[in-house]
Amino acid sequence: MAYAKHLTKITDINKFYLENIINKGDVTIDATMGNGYDTKYLAEKVGEKGFVYAFDIQEEALKSTRKKLEKEGYLDRAKLILDGHENIDKYVKEEVSCVLFNLGYLPRAKHLIITKPDTTLKAIKSSLEILKENGIISIAIYTGHDGGQEEKDSIYNFVNNLNQDEFNVLESKFLNQVNNPPQLILIEKKKSQ
Ligand SMILES: C[S@@+](CC[C@H](N)C(=O)[O-])C[C@H]1O[C@@H](n2cnc3c(N)ncnc32)[C@H](O)[C@@H]1O
Repeated sequence: MAYAKHLTKITDINKFYLENIINKGDVTIDATMGNGYDTKYLAEKVGEKGFVYAFDIQEEALKSTRKKLEKEGYLDRAKLILDGHENIDKYVKEEVSCVLFNLGYLPRAKHLIITKPDTTLKAIKSSLEILKENGIISIAIYTGHDGGQEEKDSIYNFVNNLNQDEFNVLESKFLNQVNNPPQLILIEKKKSQ
């Protein structure tokens, strides 16, 4: 897969960070499947021996993701789950190297169905429980829609207080973009001493 060479999209910048985090054979999670771009990216990174659990609450998201995976021959290395990421703990029992959150609403769909602070936080907490040492939770946050700022505030409030002996928390954001540019938060679980 060819990755972008420029600092234009937060989702591409994310992939610079993840390049050496996800290995062949890993188990990973796409917490917000949407149109399946991230699920496909993860499926490619983990290879045929790896696995991706992908969550969304919209049937439409599963449909378009299934189509993408089918085209690449990746269907057997992913489970597409029609349920909220707040229920990750009901489906994923093993350790994972990466959990991706791309928050907000499904592009081109109704903007009424958006990720919400309570369920997003519950999912982040469950993800921390099953994250491998040196694994990363990556959260792309958007504030341009109704409810986006509240979601951002509750995430920052939580991650700002994560114990630095256990986790590294990194923020990336565009400083000179107008119109509510997105932010990226990466949480790495540190190796226990
Ligand atoms: C910005 S889109 C994700 C884009 C996606 N990663 C892609 O590659 O196309 C956000 C998605 O989160 C989904 N969503 C909203 N609440 C959710 C929840 N509680 N659990 C899982 N997905 C949720 C929406 O339905 C929407 O499809």
